[in-house]
Amino acid sequence: MTKNNTYQKLALFFLTGMVLFLYNCTTNTIDEGDITDLPPIVETVTYDDDVAPIITNNCIGCHSGPNANAGLELTGYANVRAAAEQGNLVNRINNGSNPMPPSGILPPETRQIIDQWIADGYLEN
Ligand code: HEC
Repeated sequence: MTKNNTYQKLALFFLTGMVLFLYNCTTNTIDEGDITDLPPIVETVTYDDDVAPIITNNCIGCHSGPNANAGLELTGYANVRAAAEQGNLVNRINNGSNPMPPSGILPPETRQIIDQWIADGYLEN
C-alpha cells in the first residue's frame, strides 16, 4: 500500500512537471516579433544595399518571370517600389496569418528594414 502511494506521488510529481514544462513551451515560443520593440535604424537604408538582398532571398523565386505568382514582378527597384507604394507588399510582409513569403513571416529585423526604406522615401542607392 505504501509503495503504491509512493508511485502515485511520483506520478503526480512527473505529471505536474510535464504540465509546467508544456505550459512553458507554449508561452515561450518565439513569436512573430514586434518591430516597435527594436531600436530604430540610424543608418541610411537603400534599395541596392539593404532591400534588394531581402527580396532576392525571399521573394524572387515566386515573383519573377512570366509565371510570377499573382502576376507580381518583384525584380528591380521600380517593381518593388511600385508594389510597396501602390500594392500591398508591406501589408503582406507584416501579415501574421497570411504572410509573404508564405513559408513564414520574416524576422522583425528584416521587416523593419523595409519599413525604414519606405519611411526614408524609397532611396535607390
Ligand atoms: C513560395 C512562393 C512565394 C514566395 C517565396 C513569395 N510569394 Fe508572394 N505570393 C505568392 C502567391 C502564390 C501569391 C498569390 C496568393 C496570395 O495572395 O496569397 C502571392 C501574393 C503576393 C502578394 C499579393 C499580390 C496581390 O496582387 O494581391 C504580395 C504583395 C506578395 N506576394 C509579396 C511577396 C513578397 C514581398 C515576398 C518576399 C518577402 C513574397 N511575396 C514571397 C507566392 C510567393
